[in-house]
Amino acid sequence: MDVKKVVIASDHAGFEAKEFAKECLVKLGFEIEDLGTNSKDVSVDYPDFANILSNKISEKNGIYGVLICGTGIGISVAANRHANVRCALCHDVTTARLSREHNDANVLCFGARIVGRATIEDMINIFFATPFAGGRHQNRIDKLGSCYVS
Ligand code: RB5
Repeated sequence: MDVKKVVIASDHAGFEAKEFAKECLVKLGFEIEDLGTNSKDVSVDYPDFANILSNKISEKNGIYGVLICGTGIGISVAANRHANVRCALCHDVTTARLSREHNDANVLCFGARIVGRATIEDMINIFFATPFAGGRHQNRIDKLGSCYVS
């Protein structure tokens, strides 16, 4: 993976996990941009942070993302409404690895109320170490562009 920068965002439910995830990303040597939120005590709306982050992601520019909310569900749904964002809601090392191998995910997502710190660090490590497998999976990625309906 050619990772030039990692952008990260969460809602209030994901704030503490975001701070921990940043430590994991620093260990991997990535440049990080934290797009908020900045407190666990102020309730915010996850679509706002999904949108801020997703606007920074586009294919082949080397920018990847990490998104966190309480379950990971709301923020991943919001992110995947953006063209060229492939946000993978992951629960373990296997889903994190396969999201890269099969789906060429450019945003790793997880639920702060669902997974613990050891799993978060393992998912981050495997996600950013795993290349896209290409081949038959590329055909499927290409078809994602036609999944938009109005
Ligand atoms: C916030 O309470 C919570 O609803 C949000 O973080 C997320 O879990 C939604 O999918």
